[in-house]
Amino acid sequence: MKSAFNFQDEFEFTEAHFSKVKKDLYENAGILLEDHKKDMACNRLVRRLRALELNSYDSYFNYIEANPNELRQFVNVLTANLSAFYQQQQHFDFIAETMLPRLRENRQQQIRGWSAGCGNGEEAYSIVMTLADSLLNIKDLDIKILATDVDASVLKAARFGVYDIDRISMLSRQSVHKYFMKGVGNRSGKVLMRPELQQLICFKYLNLMSDWPMKGQFDFIFCRNVMVYFNRDSQQKLIEKLGAMLKAGGYLFVGQAEQLVLEQQKFNLVASAVYQKRGSFA
Ligand SMILES: C[S@@+](CC[C@H](N)C(=O)[O-])C[C@H]1O[C@@H](n2cnc3c(N)ncnc32)[C@H](O)[C@@H]1O
Repeated sequence: MKSAFNFQDEFEFTEAHFSKVKKDLYENAGILLEDHKKDMACNRLVRRLRALELNSYDSYFNYIEANPNELRQFVNVLTANLSAFYQQQQHFDFIAETMLPRLRENRQQQIRGWSAGCGNGEEAYSIVMTLADSLLNIKDLDIKILATDVDASVLKAARFGVYDIDRISMLSRQSVHKYFMKGVGNRSGKVLMRPELQQLICFKYLNLMSDWPMKGQFDFIFCRNVMVYFNRDSQQKLIEKLGAMLKAGGYLFVGQAEQLVLEQQKFNLVASAVYQKRGSFA
């Protein structure tokens, strides 16, 4: 059945096209597109087809193959404001298995992190849930996560911390109970982050392309699926500024499709889409 908002009359978007879109998005951005997002994907990509004056999705896929730079646009249009809990799970495993043991070794009592381009807040909340899962008592440490975005509406939603329950379907019942409160009445079907976790995050408006008021020094920065919005020159400047905000030995987590951008920088690639600022870990 055709929905009122798709463009199947103009360009046929088959299940095979959608499967390819899902596969390419996952491989290039680590983002899993759920089945019910088919219309959304179709509606967003059709704008690229029109802009490129192409007449089918097959010709768009060929275009991407011939012009690898288009991959960034592909990820960009599909992910604008799209985020999910534990997206790129390997980053949260890295925090638990590599970063925290190092901080523990150094007897570090303070943890400072930044989710730059935080979207609806799932990234920042996934960070604090990971910390809470890994530490005996999260209150024993001084933890502050800064989460910033240029879009006031997503920031408002992030601060609010209310999500549809199906967005946390990957969590165990125990984690849901530990970190969320279930909505009742007109909030049924929704969950709210528990205040103990919300308190660890400070949501602020910040345009990454403007001057930054804070001084750093962060133990880690997540800046994922944000650089796709900028041109090469702005990306380079952003990476330099992010690097200056990190402690020596601190970690920069980027989107799967953004790894190439960092090749020439003063970082070591230490895991998939995880860079470590050169210098000793204080
Ligand atoms: C696809 S979302 C990524 C959210 C999150 N980082 C993640 O990967 O789940 C990209 C976010 O970057 C934000 N963004 C785009 N340009 C920005 C800028 N100049 N400064 C700050 N945030 C920006 C958008 O508003 C959007 O919320």
